Amino acid sequence: MPNETTTSTETRAFDHQHSSSKGDEWWRSAVIYQIYPRSFADASGDGIGDLAGITERLGSLRDLGVDAVWLSPFFRSPQRDAGYDVSDYCDVDPIFGTLDDFDVLRGRAHDLGLRVIVDLVPNHCSSDHPWFRDALAAGPGSPERDRFMFREGRGENGELPPNNWQSIFGGNAWTRITEADGTPGPWYLHIFDTSQPDFNWKNPWVWEQFRQILRFWLDRGVDGFRVDVAHGLMKKDCLPDIVQVAEAGGLADSISAPDEVPYWAQPEVHDVWRDWNAVLAEYSGDRVLCAEAWVEPLAKAALWVRSDEMHQAFNFSYLGTPWNAARLRSVIDESIAAFTAVGAPSTWVLSNHDVVRHASRYGLSAADASPATGIGPKSADKPDEALGLRRARAASALMMSLPGSAYLYQGEELGLPEVIELDDHVREDPTFHRTNGEVYGRDGCRVPIPWESAAPSFGFSDSGASWLPQPPLFASYARDQQAGNPGSTLELYRAALAARAQFALGTGSVTWLDGFGSDVVALRNGAISVIANTGATAVELPAGELVLASGALESGLLPADTTVWIITD
Ligand code: NOJ
Repeated sequence: MPNETTTSTETRAFDHQHSSSKGDEWWRSAVIYQIYPRSFADASGDGIGDLAGITERLGSLRDLGVDAVWLSPFFRSPQRDAGYDVSDYCDVDPIFGTLDDFDVLRGRAHDLGLRVIVDLVPNHCSSDHPWFRDALAAGPGSPERDRFMFREGRGENGELPPNNWQSIFGGNAWTRITEADGTPGPWYLHIFDTSQPDFNWKNPWVWEQFRQILRFWLDRGVDGFRVDVAHGLMKKDCLPDIVQVAEAGGLADSISAPDEVPYWAQPEVHDVWRDWNAVLAEYSGDRVLCAEAWVEPLAKAALWVRSDEMHQAFNFSYLGTPWNAARLRSVIDESIAAFTAVGAPSTWVLSNHDVVRHASRYGLSAADASPATGIGPKSADKPDEALGLRRARAASALMMSLPGSAYLYQGEELGLPEVIELDDHVREDPTFHRTNGEVYGRDGCRVPIPWESAAPSFGFSDSGASWLPQPPLFASYARDQQAGNPGSTLELYRAALAARAQFALGTGSVTWLDGFGSDVVALRNGAISVIANTGATAVELPAGELVLASGALESGLLPADTTVWIITD
């Protein structure tokens, strides 16, 4: 793997000595790039990406023009949910490296002016975590058991689960244990996989452990945390049945679940975020908490980012909006209104490691297809690759023009499509296995990304190994094929991020422009007019200097599925 150098000599290194005044913090307008460590770059050659691989490739992210990286979990874990099943929150899993490797990564990132956000998983840990093992060993009524959600079963002999909750990954949300003496015991709750027991957040001991974990990573110089399942920690007392159980179908259920779901968005969860806010406030340097809270409507998601709670929340309503001008206008309006009302920036996101890549989503015939169920060989609706890419480029150009903070998912800057042709036996997502293959799940967006078209595993790993097989078509999407090529998706992203910084779009505001027709999103942010055509008919453009175009214009007109940024006369 090449040892990268950056193409620019300018450095934006910083330290944590200072905090900005309220309203000027870096994260309000930042572009944050999600690294999925197992699929980014593999320095060890074992086919699974690692921290040393990330460090070697950080220069390319600085050249892309992002402000920060968010690393999905790299902590010790049996990897039953790709690291979201943590068995030690304060150590690096050997497959990813060591704490020293993390320090090197963080130091290199900071030298390059890139902040580092790590992923914290407080709703559950791994069933291999010593805390859960202790709970099993300690027996009924022990303080160790009270750290998790153990309950007696229903039925004459406790043989039925305590309630009717279903796992987000499919199947029951409860697993019965066998006590040390061989007798059947109580059940424990796992909203996700059996290997991910939920913590009991009504127990102060759990609060204290997580304060210590936060401080461990803050002391190690991280700039913030992406917080997993930030709507799920508190469960309604008595754990009532759900009246209508959502069908197993992956994370989409949590979007569509009715308000009354007793394990989502309980009011007490906000006390946790106030507590964490206070921990971060002990540190200088504008550290940030970003909520992964699948909560709708946006006005409700905004409760996670009130001034004494978290700082950002992912805008999943935006992610779920189809390529449709009216829907986009309305979600942009709603987002800005909801987050402004609590003094927080809106965020924007189109892809992550849990959803079908947007270059493929926008190529499906069902415009409202669930982003979270995956696509596989037997899916009826297969994406049109060219259409999807064209729309994805236009959608990304629109997103990067918006004020607030934007999240990018590794590979979207290359226009990568979802990988559909994965054999059942290579799929690792527990969703696929817990639904007996009915829901393909998330492996298709997690395939290791291509760097060099002619290298083994497209430069992901010198050994050519790759934990999920990469399709041959990745060669044409490889970074080296796109770098310096003016029409490429990579150059589109670089140009957009450079112009976003130059024109301070992240700290700007949106004014709608009229007169372009109902299929067009037209807005002004500072000096830039942004015009996105989601319809089939080409539209006339105002006179001005073209700053960015997601596709070629046709005789001066803006064709279908294209976005431009213009400085109008
Ligand atoms: C959300 C994460 O993004 C996802 O990958 C994970 O499976 C669940 N939370 C459970 O931790």
